[in-house]
Amino acid sequence: MTGWTEGYVGGIDYIRAFYRELSPSLLSFALLLRGWRPPADLGGAFAYAELGCGHGVSSAVLAAAHPAARFEAVDFNPAHIAGAQRLAAEAGLGNAAFLEENFADHAASGVKDLDMVALHGVWSWVSAENRAILVDLLRRRLKPGGLVFVSYNALPGTLAYMPLRRILVEHTANQLGGRSGDLAEKIEQAVGFAGRLAALNAGWFRQTDEVPARLESLARKSPNYIAHEYLNSDWTAFYHADVARELAGAKLDFAGPSVPMEQIDELALDPAAIALIQEARDPAYRETLRDVLTNRAFRRDLFVKGAERLTPAERTERLRATRFTLLVPAEDVPEVAITPVGRLPFPPDLYGPLAESLADGVPSLEELTALPALARHGEEAVLRALMMLTSLALASPALPEDGLAARKAHADRFNDAVLERNRTDDTLGTLASPVIGSGVAVSRVEALFLVAQRRGLDPAAFAWERLSTDGLALSRDGVRLASAEENVAELRGRFGSFSRRRVPVLKRLGIL
Ligand SMILES: C[S@@+](CC[C@H](N)C(=O)[O-])C[C@H]1O[C@@H](n2cnc3c(N)ncnc32)[C@H](O)[C@@H]1O
Repeated sequence: MTGWTEGYVGGIDYIRAFYRELSPSLLSFALLLRGWRPPADLGGAFAYAELGCGHGVSSAVLAAAHPAARFEAVDFNPAHIAGAQRLAAEAGLGNAAFLEENFADHAASGVKDLDMVALHGVWSWVSAENRAILVDLLRRRLKPGGLVFVSYNALPGTLAYMPLRRILVEHTANQLGGRSGDLAEKIEQAVGFAGRLAALNAGWFRQTDEVPARLESLARKSPNYIAHEYLNSDWTAFYHADVARELAGAKLDFAGPSVPMEQIDELALDPAAIALIQEARDPAYRETLRDVLTNRAFRRDLFVKGAERLTPAERTERLRATRFTLLVPAEDVPEVAITPVGRLPFPPDLYGPLAESLADGVPSLEELTALPALARHGEEAVLRALMMLTSLALASPALPEDGLAARKAHADRFNDAVLERNRTDDTLGTLASPVIGSGVAVSRVEALFLVAQRRGLDPAAFAWERLSTDGLALSRDGVRLASAEENVAELRGRFGSFSRRRVPVLKRLGIL
């Protein structure tokens, strides 16, 4: 291994982002759906580790929403950890430790005390040697009954992108390697060059439908994201069966996909395909066949260490007690949803009353199915609709009501710190919800409205004062608004819609 980056891309920070899929409430819901006992009481004193935490935004938000739990977030990049530690100090996150350590050093410390471990954006991007260290770390630190979330580039779906990655690596390292200019500029040039190649529509580009769309989406991504996604010297796509075999070294068993809708085979596969998959006896082989037939390029998997199977009655009881709420206004739940497996109808006679009830409070599955408009669809259909809504970030499972006041006090302090940051910069756009135990995105303008309201100031005038200080201006219909009057008028309109549409949601989520 060379230098502290161990082949991992250096000289460019990762993006600051919150990933809701790491939320204990979602992880537990996914586990429960598959009939496994979740590792801990969500309002309780569980221990959670994020290995390779980047700037630590996900861990910080989760720690803010779970004051009784303990979070440890590890990353060897001091630039990532310095910022995370400063945020933790400002936000009073006494229950989160942000550790500047590599996996090997971290593996040497600590006892078997972890209930949940998240490995997001790590497994495909580190060396085989580091993966072995991670397996050892999981073997020694994860409690019996514990849960691991692991995401990775999956085969065969990733095959389509391999030449694209190669072009980006060669172009930044060799073609532009000797030139001056920072890595971010070189990445932009490399993406531009790949775009020119794609425009020829020759050879591999002609054969691979997905590539132009991926290139278009890359052109909109920051160089920081592209560097960490594509430019590490280690970059390995895996068949699920190989990941399952490596993790078996930590006594881990595959428990299911963490995205609830990925647990519904009929969405992506026809009956003949499902029947063929069922012929495979080994679960890892079955899952690999699913990936072959859906051509999946990215997986988010749950593994458990000796977790217990729930009886069907216990599973049902726990699911019925699970509470849910909507993350958007009810009218934003579409009649046809755009999903990773295509356009799917959301029949209004089911999704309409469901969205209304979820926008009205935080009902349990049991309470939902007792409503006449939903009872007639039956519990299975309501649960399935909840699986869809939670997968598409339109709804979320919630934490138990007990302990909400303490969680809110803790989250308020974190949210104050995030909002305060937004006065002067736009790098943190996630607030912590003590109701769902997860993060909620707010734009810079929304954050400025909230700061103004707390201070009793005119929201539009305050937001404009801050934005104009940073040399920013708003756009309407793609046209930049030049004058202060136009910007303030636009902000007044946006504040009206924010008050009508967003404030009720933020109140229900315990953020306001
Ligand atoms: C793609 S980022 C993912 C960050 C975060 N989990 C997220 O989802 O936002 C991977 C992170 O792993 C860290 N990393 C890579 N190799 C590591 C090692 N050997 N020890 C500690 N951290 C490492 C990198 O610094 C980087 O921040």
